[in-house]
Amino acid sequence: MVTKIYEKLGLVNTREMFKKAMDGGYAIPAYNFNNMEQLQAIITACTESKSPVILQVSKGARSYANETLLYYMAQGAVEMSKQMGGKIPIALHLDHGDSFELCKSCIDMGFSSVMIDGSHLPYDENVSLTKKVVEYAHQFDVTVEGELGVLAGIEEHVVADKSTYTKPEEVIDFVKKTGVDSLAISIGTSHGAYKFKLKPGESVPPLRFDILAEVQKKLPGFPIVLHGASSVLPEYIDMINQYGGKMEGAVGVPEDQLRKAAKSSVCKINIDSDGRLVVTAIIRKVFAEKPAEFDPRKYLGPARTELVKMYKNKNENVVGSAGKA
Ligand code: G3H
Ligand code: 13P
Ligand code: ZN
Repeated sequence: MVTKIYEKLGLVNTREMFKKAMDGGYAIPAYNFNNMEQLQAIITACTESKSPVILQVSKGARSYANETLLYYMAQGAVEMSKQMGGKIPIALHLDHGDSFELCKSCIDMGFSSVMIDGSHLPYDENVSLTKKVVEYAHQFDVTVEGELGVLAGIEEHVVADKSTYTKPEEVIDFVKKTGVDSLAISIGTSHGAYKFKLKPGESVPPLRFDILAEVQKKLPGFPIVLHGASSVLPEYIDMINQYGGKMEGAVGVPEDQLRKAAKSSVCKINIDSDGRLVVTAIIRKVFAEKPAEFDPRKYLGPARTELVKMYKNKNENVVGSAGKA
């Protein structure tokens, strides 16, 4: 009988979520959070749109929020959703875990899913680190995400100028040797708000759906994860620039590309930057329009309201998870 630490918090792992997403042709949204308002917004949006959700926490977010507080925040999030009348599956996931020790600590403190990101390591080292995490995690029925291929942008505190796309010929061996439950692949997305450098008049290059198709052919029915999937919504970039910010040239993955990915074996779509942009845009607007305001509720509150709107739209019109809880 396995002890499932996360069950005490009312969380679930990602296994069942991904199975349903695979069969239903949609993806589970994985939304990053660092503070209370972001968490409230994610829970409100996903409960109201009846969407399963992965609450995603990076190493930096965990130390920012405090690991002990995070344990109770996760429990509180589940309770909040129930109080709202929701019965949505909620997972708590470590994003870009960079060591066995960090993954172990998260598992021991209630995470139901972890990512071990060995994508920058030589292949054999990635395999052995990932395998070690899987062996520990599975004792507690915690699911594990691995990664093959490197995304452009900042990943694991390493800045890569160019993507190293996932090599489809490696995926079977990696999954077999490590026992991972899902695999993040690199098909042209990247982290942050500047995903593509476009010349005037140029449009965003399409994602490498050919690589995704190859991976899918090699691993039929196996859950694939897309990182760096924010769309960097122009309305919030415009708002940021209008109210004193400076984010020219910020561009993300078009929503139609994500919708297409969600219908394939992509079962998890990671979104962090879009939430950050909403918060920044609204706070800038409030500060510009009401320079005398100094009550945090008066600017964090409107930011939270806007976040709910943005996340609901993702669930309903991008990842397709609304109504699937
Ligand atoms: O992929 C990285 C996530 O956006 C988390 O970023 O390490 O700044 O919290 P962070
Ligand atoms: P974005 O920067 O596109 O939101 O990507 C987030 C992510 O991949 C978190 O792991
Ligand atoms: Zn990521």
